[in-house]
Amino acid sequence: MVDALPPVGAASRAAAPAASGTRARLNAAAGTGARFTPPPESAIPDDDFGKMVRLGRNIVLETPTYAKAFVGNTLSCANCHLDAGRMAGSAPLWAAYVSYPAYRAKNHKVNTFAERLQGCFTFSQNGSAPPLGSETLVALEAYAFWLSKGLPVDEKVAGRGYPELPKPARAPDYARGQAVYAAKCALCHGADGQGQLTHGATVFPPLWGPQSFNWGAGMASYKNAAAFIRANMPYGMSYSLSPQEAWDVAYFMNAHERPQDPRWLGSVAATRAKFHNTPFSLYGTVVKGTLLGDTGAPLAR
Ligand code: HEC
Ligand code: HEC
Repeated sequence: MVDALPPVGAASRAAAPAASGTRARLNAAAGTGARFTPPPESAIPDDDFGKMVRLGRNIVLETPTYAKAFVGNTLSCANCHLDAGRMAGSAPLWAAYVSYPAYRAKNHKVNTFAERLQGCFTFSQNGSAPPLGSETLVALEAYAFWLSKGLPVDEKVAGRGYPELPKPARAPDYARGQAVYAAKCALCHGADGQGQLTHGATVFPPLWGPQSFNWGAGMASYKNAAAFIRANMPYGMSYSLSPQEAWDVAYFMNAHERPQDPRWLGSVAATRAKFHNTPFSLYGTVVKGTLLGDTGAPLAR
């Protein structure tokens, strides 16, 4: 299995287009139906609108560089929204664009697309929300709009979010997840989960610890993480894990410490009760003798 992985040095984002072709075929093989293909990058117009679209694309690919003021970790949008937000089954931005405004239980209101984007900065990027109308949000909206050209407005569009993952046959398990991690993830993300930086640029993103997504992020639910992992990881080998392996390794990943939930209510118990009262969040539970989330107040941003 390890033989089939790209060599470590070659798996930078520059290598993504080649790998994404493989994944597009795997996605098609997974039988999830006809899918939209966004326009090629070469079709971005050479005018003022196109400039904004390009800025949006750059923000997605290199978020800590192009949206520095709003980012508190080393992740980029494209680390979780693969192929610069184009890949079906990887929460593609074109499918999201045609799905808002929408009600979200997370903040109990109808969110515009721009407000949904703000959420990924606060939680996934462990940063702060760019103001509505700011160049950062306008650029991201322009890019997502441009990607979705020709797609009808429809929140049930094929390829949106992550493909549904069957419930695991056995309850997700730390030790089994640890074994999957060592065999199929550590090569790139590191035995310590901290990923790899080369000359300050993220080659393999961290999965937990101070530079990762925070406890409030969608990926901190091991249900979401399992669905993402099954459809997208190991990188270039979509759908190669069994559903059980995906659940187990997602559980293991999210049984590690990460930045505090910015909605912190002063104690782990209160924050768990209000925001993590689900079996899919390990926040506020004891794993391997550690009370997860017990790291004090979030850093000010
Ligand atoms: C740590 C991983 C991660 C990072 C980094 C991240 N996101 Fe997300 N994003 C997610 C997850 C998980 C979801 C929820 C997917 C679902 O509900 O199926 C999501 C959802 C979204 C959605 C809504 C998708 C839909 O179909 O409703 C948008 C839009 C979005 N992200 C944009 C961004 C942008 C822009 C950035 C960078 C500024 C970003 N995300 C960074 C993980 C991430
Ligand atoms: C061949 C190298 C490689 C392997 C093996 C691999 N990944 Fe990844 N992973 C990546 C890369 C590269 C990205 C970022 C994708 C991008 O930016 O296009 C990523 C992104 C991620 C992300 C979202 C970003 C983040 O840091 O939170 C998660 C979660 C993840 N991988 C989990 C796993 C798990 C679990 C496994 C094992 C089942 C695994 N990966 C195996 C290379 C790899």
